[in-house]
Amino acid sequence: MAVREVLQVGDELLRKKSKEVKIFDERLEEILDDMWDTMYANNGMGLAGPQVGILKRIVVMDVNNMRLELINPVIVECHGKDVEQEGCLSCGKIKGNVERPMYVTIKAQDRYGYSFTISGEKYLARCFCHEIDHLDGILFIDKMIKNKE
Ligand code: NI
Repeated sequence: MAVREVLQVGDELLRKKSKEVKIFDERLEEILDDMWDTMYANNGMGLAGPQVGILKRIVVMDVNNMRLELINPVIVECHGKDVEQEGCLSCGKIKGNVERPMYVTIKAQDRYGYSFTISGEKYLARCFCHEIDHLDGILFIDKMIKNKE
């Protein structure tokens, strides 16, 4: 296990679309373990593959005392609206309000390839959306609500 470098905004890898994981092997487990180490070393609550330069659809999240590994996560349902502040380990000290769905249900696989479905509201729903955006090269700063002058 190892702490990897977290890429920062401006790095073009953060803007690439990540590829689906098709092989669930030891290499994947190694990447996930490194992502946990990297996320906790940076006091983060979520980390997506591209943030450590790995263009695969992989996310780790520790929200509401729940540790989640999401492989190939897809949003299958969402509704409502919620506006709250976000930040990101790849965006330094920048914080800003982003509108997200209030309720989100996702489908994903675990590190062994087993599929599961999980629903979340408010902060958890927000984290699902934020992290899945990373897999499509989207950062929260792209969606930040600008303050009116
Ligand atoms: Ni982020």
